[in-house]
Amino acid sequence: MKILRLPMIVLACVVCAALLALQASQASGKSAKTVTFSKEVAPIFNKNCANCHRPGEAAPFSTLTYKDARPWAKSIRQQVMNRTMPPWHADPHVGQWANDARLSQKDIDTIVAWVDGGALEGNPKDLPPAPKFSEGWAIGKPDVILDMGKDYVMKPGSPDEIQYFTVETNFTEDKYVQFVEARPGNRQIVHHIIAFIQPPPKTDGSKQLSPEERRKMREAAMRDNIFYQDGFLTKVKADAPVYDNACDLPSGGNGSKRDGSGDGGGEGGGSSTLLAGYAPGKNQEIWPAGTVKKIPAGSKIVFQLHYSAFLNPTGELKDRSSIGMIFAKNPPDRELKTHPIGNHYFKIPAGAENHKATACWTAPEDLHIVTFMPHLHMRGKSMEFKAIYPDGRTEVICNVPKYDFNWQLVYYAKKPVAVPKGTKILVTTTWDNSSKNKFNPDPTKDIRWGDPTYEEMTIGWIDYTLDKQNLKTTAMK
Ligand code: HEC
Repeated sequence: MKILRLPMIVLACVVCAALLALQASQASGKSAKTVTFSKEVAPIFNKNCANCHRPGEAAPFSTLTYKDARPWAKSIRQQVMNRTMPPWHADPHVGQWANDARLSQKDIDTIVAWVDGGALEGNPKDLPPAPKFSEGWAIGKPDVILDMGKDYVMKPGSPDEIQYFTVETNFTEDKYVQFVEARPGNRQIVHHIIAFIQPPPKTDGSKQLSPEERRKMREAAMRDNIFYQDGFLTKVKADAPVYDNACDLPSGGNGSKRDGSGDGGGEGGGSSTLLAGYAPGKNQEIWPAGTVKKIPAGSKIVFQLHYSAFLNPTGELKDRSSIGMIFAKNPPDRELKTHPIGNHYFKIPAGAENHKATACWTAPEDLHIVTFMPHLHMRGKSMEFKAIYPDGRTEVICNVPKYDFNWQLVYYAKKPVAVPKGTKILVTTTWDNSSKNKFNPDPTKDIRWGDPTYEEMTIGWIDYTLDKQNLKTTAMK
């Protein structure tokens, strides 16, 4: 027995030692994998979060330093795991996007491991170089900054307002804008900014409508009993004709039959005049190199400001929003045109959970679509862009299955989408006007088109270039 016992003890010790060694190796394996802010997490935050999560920007905390990010660790873990952050709502199986904000699974795993491991700082010496952001402007230092020209004051308790401000550019030659950014002066009240180019009165015989002409058309539409004015807001009358499927209408749904240019926002909409937009989640334009927006000499800029009471719980608040522009340094190839594909005639019944409407636009020439931007309000649920090619083939070219009103994201096609002349772009929208939609301000109301966020809209904005255009040879000598 004695003889046997010894080996058993030895055996037991060998097992002990093995277990200890295993534990030790697991522990050291763990420590080798310990994720720290300084080494593994800061590079992810700098690349994917800091453009919004830094002082002076829209997000509620900064990810630039450990001290600022650490208290939010739990929330960060949750928001990246369920892909609420960074905001991105396009279906990943449709199209490829130059500005795709989604984190890779590896980055998500790293952030989760960091939080689960105690959200450690690590060695500050491991920190990557601090990212460079220029003075407030995401596009870099603008060549020209233009603001609204005066302060706008919103009184507490005001309803939503749409206000226009027109300013001179004083440009004495045509300008080609490569980068442009609209910046709200006061994020507490600015829901969106749209800056339009208002060219000088026609001298070139082009078909472009001036805002005055558009206003006249809008008035004609009002005479058609479609729109009415409610203070500063334009709305569609409750008893206006209803066409949820607007594709059979001559206008495809945009404005009344006489107003092919309606953009859902009053004057200045329509084709080819939109310069820049801001809305939560969207502020800079990153067009492909050589693709520009043209501002003809002598143009004015019209700011359309949507001030939202929804964002203004207290006090009298002032705003002076602005746009910054950087001009093309090299001769550009093509000019970007903008078109709103919208339906003004829908009616969303009270309580409807999944109400559908369509709008259509037919490509007048061979063109390439560069960006897509769905715009709906608080009941918005989804938007899909489908191309119906002249040969009958159909293709979904952008799909946003879970629209979120809090974010007005622009989807920049990695490769602009070729659209031959005669292609019909069918935009299908759904809204949730039921009480299941937590953003719904009133599920008991039938909803028509209207400016304020508590009414609805549907606009599928697209930016496109015309294939035949070559500014290098025509515009820039
Ligand atoms: C496009 C701008 C933008 C980007 C990019 C972005 N965020 Fe955000 N984030 C915001 C804004 C704005 C809010 C506030 C949203 C709100 O109040 O509904 C927010 C909210 C959050 C919150 C919720 C805070 C809370 O109240 O609990 C977390 C966590 C967060 N972001 C983490 C991240 C992380 C991590 C990244 C990068 C991986 C990221 N965000 C990228 C703009 C952004």
